[in-house]
Amino acid sequence: MHDLVVRDLEQARNRTLGLTDLDDPTLVTQHDPLMSPLVWDLAHVGQQEQLWLLRAGDPARPGMLPPAVDALYDAFKHPRAERPSLPLLPPVEARAYDHEVRGRVLDLIEHTPADELFTAGMVVQHEEQHDETMLATLQLRLADHRDGVRAAGPGLYGGFAGLGGRRRRPGGSSGGRLTGR
Ligand SMILES: [Fe+2]
Repeated sequence: MHDLVVRDLEQARNRTLGLTDLDDPTLVTQHDPLMSPLVWDLAHVGQQEQLWLLRAGDPARPGMLPPAVDALYDAFKHPRAERPSLPLLPPVEARAYDHEVRGRVLDLIEHTPADELFTAGMVVQHEEQHDETMLATLQLRLADHRDGVRAAGPGLYGGFAGLGGRRRRPGGSSGGRLTGR
């Protein structure tokens, strides 16, 4: 059981790191009003992992981040629209934080009875949901780029169909339900 949880945690993290293997300007930009800057998701997965596995879900317990910084990654306090204006951790610090949390979590899991690993499974699913959200963000970014190419004229990539023919609604709403708060 421990091996499976560790494997799933690592798989989710590999996806997260793969999706955020981008330059800093791309990570800190909000590519769509419905979505967070990717750097917010990047640190949020670590913050939630720490909260639920190292602080027993109690935000009043001391964490690894200063309380004011920790609170930046509370999805209920900060809706997506305002996240670009928050003093978020830069990408390099977000990655280092996630790495530090994960090291402590792996140490803890090693000494956790198998029948108490349920919360770790939930943390895996949470990170997977954010991986899905980040992928959607990147697709929206790509769609914007393609719309720009299309607006520039048919001579560039003439006939390009976009993301499966998907079109965005006026005003920027993509429609559909997005996971990962
Ligand atoms: Fe979340």
